[in-house]
Amino acid sequence: MTATPPDFDSRFFRSALGRFATGVTVITTEASQGGGPVGLTISSFNSVSLEPPMVLWTLSKKASSLAHFLQARRYVVHVLAAPQLSLAKRFAQGAQADRFKGLALTRAPGGTLMLDAPECAAWFECYNLTQHDAGDHTIFIGQVEHCHRNFGQPLVYHAGDFDLTPSTEPLSSN
Ligand SMILES: Cc1cc2nc3c(=O)[nH]c(=O)nc-3n(C[C@H](O)[C@H](O)[C@H](O)COP(=O)(O)O)c2cc1C
Repeated sequence: MTATPPDFDSRFFRSALGRFATGVTVITTEASQGGGPVGLTISSFNSVSLEPPMVLWTLSKKASSLAHFLQARRYVVHVLAAPQLSLAKRFAQGAQADRFKGLALTRAPGGTLMLDAPECAAWFECYNLTQHDAGDHTIFIGQVEHCHRNFGQPLVYHAGDFDLTPSTEPLSSN
């Protein structure tokens, strides 16, 4: 059995998917042979498994960073906090070198290059476990080796735009 062809166009599909609110991440790694930092904005991040700890995200096959992430041993997923909107925009456009211009960088415990941005809502240093071909995207599954979290407001993306409405409920610290 094969799937029935879609009865909608990709524009409508995109719009329907946009009803699913997500967080926003910036994922960083390092190009091989000292090629410098690589990073981009990703909202397709999600949890996969608690034990072992695993996460996933999907990367367009058109992305210039695809080759770097296919060969990277590790990467860091930075979950952006609401005040980090400018980082989300910066890492979705322009040349790689420009995205990192003027930003402080550091290394995660496993040695992966990451943003020195302690205000991130969370970060996950991942071993680049598997990659799966999926239509016009590649699914990356990462095994989390180190992570950190804060309790501030996360940045939210919804219906093709950043959701800047403040939450009415205070966040618990559990
Ligand atoms: C909020 C937001 C979420 C995004 N999520 C994804 C995503 O999940 N996967 C993806 O491939 N591109 C995503 N993008 C687009 C990439 O960030 C953008 O195409 C980037 O320029 C790709 O960089 P590269 O070509 O240098 O790899 C997103 C952009 C924005 C603004």
